[in-house]
Amino acid sequence: MLSKELTPRAIVDFLDQYVIGQEEAKRTLAVAVYAHYRKLSTLSQKAGAIAKSNVLLIGSSGTGKTLACETLSRLLGVPFVTADATSLAQTRFVSDEIEAILQRLVDKADGDVKEAGRGIVFIDEIDKLKTSNSESRATSGESVQHALLKIMEGTPVKLGTDRYIDTTNILFICGGAFVGLDKIMARTHSFGFISTAEGDDKNILDRLNDRVKPTDLFEFGLIPEFTGRLPVIVRFRDLTREMLVRIMSVPKNAIYHQFREVFHAEGVELVVGPLVFEQIAEIAIEYKTGGRSLRGIFEELMTPILYVVPDHPQICRVEVKSLFEAPRYFRDQGSGIRDQESTPKPA
Ligand SMILES: Nc1ncnc2c1ncn2[C@@H]1O[C@H](COP(=O)(O)OP(=O)(O)OP(=O)(O)O)[C@@H](O)[C@H]1O
Ligand SMILES: [Mg+2]
Repeated sequence: MLSKELTPRAIVDFLDQYVIGQEEAKRTLAVAVYAHYRKLSTLSQKAGAIAKSNVLLIGSSGTGKTLACETLSRLLGVPFVTADATSLAQTRFVSDEIEAILQRLVDKADGDVKEAGRGIVFIDEIDKLKTSNSESRATSGESVQHALLKIMEGTPVKLGTDRYIDTTNILFICGGAFVGLDKIMARTHSFGFISTAEGDDKNILDRLNDRVKPTDLFEFGLIPEFTGRLPVIVRFRDLTREMLVRIMSVPKNAIYHQFREVFHAEGVELVVGPLVFEQIAEIAIEYKTGGRSLRGIFEELMTPILYVVPDHPQICRVEVKSLFEAPRYFRDQGSGIRDQESTPKPA
């Protein structure tokens, strides 16, 4: 399973290649996952239940929650599935839906139920399960929370006709944006009044004030038993402009690298200037979908260029300097001297 070399530090190093920023979140997640799989490998022979440390990820949309989990599962090489709590809340057959999620986990493990029993289940939009008085009991978020409680705790779940999967050792990671939680925290956290000291004390106070307490989650609308099963809470920060710029150009699979590859295959060098990335980041901030809108905006910028390039084999380089300027096309003149060509007009 998890090799000894895969320390929390090594896990964070791997995450760093794909997930920009979110340092604290990456560290907490790495330790939680490490501890979970360590417990499994050292205690698997011993009798008795292993106390599980399921994880709750809190952060605005598009800040890297799903990305971090998916990256993690690639590294760990364990079966990993994501599910959406809203679809659980919409169905009247919650247990069927839960069974389907676990069935997908087994499929990911090529039908090996035991292997699936050590996988990771990521349940997104968990905040949509908050209790509310207006809904009927059958479809309320609260009843879904109760249904999830059992499998998070660990229970045999029947799959299809005669197979069972034991969820005891499955790591559950829940995620959600928890819009409005900050307001609750601002009201309930009052550590700031304790001290007037500067420096270290201030940092400790900031961290205390920053911690999401189970009581905040109750107030938000998660039932106490449910939050009790999510002892590790990780916060994802809103992405800054700098982080958005880095997301487009730094990770191994960054969109800029991907498009440079596409153009390279056409024999063309693509150069996008720093101002363009900043302008795209600016738009993405307006869209309020975190890093999610970056790809769309970037692709929109590339589409007219990709439309022109394949019909003009003499183009060897394209420069984009600002979102509001036409891209500049350069052609190879054979002598190695590159000259700007008038922008080819698509017919
Ligand atoms: N910290 C980050 N580092 C690198 N890329 C990021 C980061 N945050 C977001 N992205 C980009 O935005 C996309 C969406 O992020 P992700 O799916 O992880 O959001 P999320 O936090 O799960 O949001 P939601 O709550 O809406 O599910 C990712 O596929 C990635 O391209
Ligand atoms: Mg997500």
